[in-house]
Amino acid sequence: MSSTQGKPIQCTAAVAYAPGKPLSVEQIIVDPPKAHEVRIKITNTAICHTDAYTLSGSDPEGAFPCILGHEGAGIVESVGPDVDTVKVGDHVIALYTAECAKCKFCKSGKTNLCGSVRATQGKGVMPDGTTRFHNLKGEPLLHFMGCSTFSEYTVVADVSVVAIDPTAPLDKVCLLGCGVTTGYGAAIKTANVQKGDTVAVFGAGTVGLSVVQGAKAREASRIIVVDINDDKKKWSFDFGATDFVNPLKDLEEGETIVSKLVEMTDGGLDFTFDCTGNVKVMRDALEACHKGWGQSIIIGVAAAGQEISTRPFQLVTGRVWKGSAFGGVKGRSEMGGLIKDYQQGKLKVDEFVTHVRPFNEINQGFEDLHHGDCLRTVLNF
Ligand SMILES: NC(=O)c1ccc[n+]([C@@H]2O[C@H](COP(=O)([O-])OP(=O)(O)OC[C@H]3O[C@@H](n4cnc5c(N)ncnc54)[C@H](O)[C@@H]3O)[C@@H](O)[C@H]2O)c1
Ligand SMILES: [Zn+2]
Ligand SMILES: [Zn+2]
Repeated sequence: MSSTQGKPIQCTAAVAYAPGKPLSVEQIIVDPPKAHEVRIKITNTAICHTDAYTLSGSDPEGAFPCILGHEGAGIVESVGPDVDTVKVGDHVIALYTAECAKCKFCKSGKTNLCGSVRATQGKGVMPDGTTRFHNLKGEPLLHFMGCSTFSEYTVVADVSVVAIDPTAPLDKVCLLGCGVTTGYGAAIKTANVQKGDTVAVFGAGTVGLSVVQGAKAREASRIIVVDINDDKKKWSFDFGATDFVNPLKDLEEGETIVSKLVEMTDGGLDFTFDCTGNVKVMRDALEACHKGWGQSIIIGVAAAGQEISTRPFQLVTGRVWKGSAFGGVKGRSEMGGLIKDYQQGKLKVDEFVTHVRPFNEINQGFEDLHHGDCLRTVLNF
């Protein structure tokens, strides 16, 4: 039992007071967990594009002031009453896609989405409608994506956390909290790529490169990466791509990225993935699919108000448009398998950590995201 159990904790956090403003690294108060809640000492958190998207103000659901961050790992400091999913001292990953195992979604066997904390999570509060964070002036601070990992201590719902093998390095496996799991899961679960399939991945960030490694694990015959940044070429091949196409440089006169991909694969791909969040790319990804059976999976998060379009004929002739959240992975029941894949060398995670910084450099960490040489910045508390 820890000495802080049942008491408020003062610690360092990065507060997002307003959209478009840098985060304020300051001391905050984190209240003890209530029933069915868990307080975690975060050891490491990475920065994902979704944090930057919400901080920029483009997220219509973004509410301020809040504590962002959803790609984090740490150690359970204390638990509230009625928690039986984790215990004090467990090494854990925070889950923005909860798994209660009881709701209609969880029991459907058809989706990893869970309805249990959805409504309150979207509003930035705990399931009882209140927040566990406030600043030293006493002002309440909202939660984010049910995780809020940009704080040395955070409180999450017991359905939003999974215990992992304590020998797994937290400064690496924090990436399984979002980007790596999202891409890898989209390939092996949502698409369920099979041996010999052809695959195209648009956008070679952490998500896209993880799709590549999922397709490689499934022994896809062709894995074509499409990215407008040539710096992504080497990484693409390192993670298992067989081809790299830069649509800004590698197209002949009159050629489009769609016609090029269709020509390269004798009629189109079995699977394509959008990992850019650009709705024009989403259309290209669909239209590059093979007639009759090709499936296109949307992973990227588009800016507010954007819509996708194509001619209905594309779907009438058998192409399928799908989406994937957190790679279709059920966080509590399937994270253990991903950790094992990582420990056995089947799933690359360390390779995505291109930058490491102390937590108080979090604003520079957001800057890193804009540079082609950054896949993920991991922050250490
Ligand atoms: N669905 C989910 O559960 C989920 C989870 C995590 C992230 N995301 C989203 O996935 C996307 C990718 O995340 P990431 O962290 O890998 O981002 P990233 O910015 O690191 O990577 C995006 C890549 O796309 C490339 N790109 C941009 N425009 C392009 C274009 N027109 N054609 C081809 N390539 C282009 C960029 O050069 C970059 O390499 C983001 O939109 C993110 O918000 C979704
Ligand atoms: Zn994310
Ligand atoms: Zn559920």
